[in-house]
Amino acid sequence: MSDFKLADRLSTLPPYLFAAIDKAKAEVAASGMDIISLGIGDPDLPTPDFIIEALCEGAKKPKNHQYPSYVGMPAYRQAVADWYKQRFNVDLNADTEVVSLIGSKEGIAHFPLAFVNPGDTVLVATPNYPVYGVATEFAGGTVEYLPLLEENDFLVDLDAVSNDTWAKAKMIFVCYPNNPTAATATKEFYDRLIEKAKEFDVIVISDAAYTEIYYDPSNKPISIMECEGAKDVAIEFHSLSKTYNMTGWRVGMAVGNASLITGLGKIKENVDSGIFQAVQEAGIAALKNGEPHAEKFRAIYKERRDVMCAALQQAGIRHRVPDASFYIWCNTPEGYKSSEFVTNVLKQTGVVLTPGNGFGTPGEGYFRISLTVNNDLLQEAVSRISKL
Ligand SMILES: Cc1ncc(COP(=O)(O)O)c(C=O)c1O
Repeated sequence: MSDFKLADRLSTLPPYLFAAIDKAKAEVAASGMDIISLGIGDPDLPTPDFIIEALCEGAKKPKNHQYPSYVGMPAYRQAVADWYKQRFNVDLNADTEVVSLIGSKEGIAHFPLAFVNPGDTVLVATPNYPVYGVATEFAGGTVEYLPLLEENDFLVDLDAVSNDTWAKAKMIFVCYPNNPTAATATKEFYDRLIEKAKEFDVIVISDAAYTEIYYDPSNKPISIMECEGAKDVAIEFHSLSKTYNMTGWRVGMAVGNASLITGLGKIKENVDSGIFQAVQEAGIAALKNGEPHAEKFRAIYKERRDVMCAALQQAGIRHRVPDASFYIWCNTPEGYKSSEFVTNVLKQTGVVLTPGNGFGTPGEGYFRISLTVNNDLLQEAVSRISKL
């Protein structure tokens, strides 16, 4: 059988930095030690029953068995617009300013194809969700990484970016609440970002997948769309995945500037045929009636966060107590590189952490803990790590 050579766009992808940890994980599992994974950002809690029931009802309707609209059912887009209004007090036109996505990853991955020409520069705040860089490269763009530093609360230092860089940039990716650092954005930050984007004609891409995982209801994460002028320059990607434990369902949305939504829709028109309508109907149910459930999930994450932060404190591991997201961003102990520390912990305890450098160079010296396991496992992980 022939061994076909991959296209350049795949063979030039950066090396997979989680490879070492995957190898160590396989070795530890083979040795018989049980693994506790605090590595994956995939909620362990089930999707609420009423959403599953909405899917089942939707699946029985013959009209849902045909091709859906690639931009989403009007009722789904309206539910997104209503949710943005109720949650962020943002007015969206469901016809022109909302598009459905097969999970936000799909939209993020396709978006550069609509607006990046070969050679265009795309700014990516890093450490980052890796899809931003890969999607840019698939579109032929060149990524320029902007470091997120602890001394700036992991916000992009917008004024440290040179005018030359702003001038050549086509778009900028930011993500708040941030994966992996768990930092949240301030209104002042978004206002300045919008100002810069207008000055230099740059598209702002906000990845807001984690806005609903927060710990203090009086200090909820904001959407860039709440800020004046956002719709002039920005598109925001959001998702039902993390809010309602629906990662497997593949349902999300993009909202914002109408020309950006139309451009993304044009790509989607050519590469996919939308989301199964029964899933969209379940998504409508989630957006309309999911809030009490989201509140319960937040209470569970809060308990986990408090258990883990107390244990880290006791173990003398420096970390940021997150205000949002289900991640804790920790400093590796003195003298350890990220991968080295994470591999040591894995080999000695069976606990999987994520090395910070896997998210980009400024992540070196950090590791990420994901709170997506139940309390018993979390306690067990904590007790194993504390014995180290
Ligand atoms: C920052 C961020 N954005 C987007 C996504 C994609 O989520 P989904 O495609 O399930 O909506 C993830 C998934 O982990 C993420 O961490």
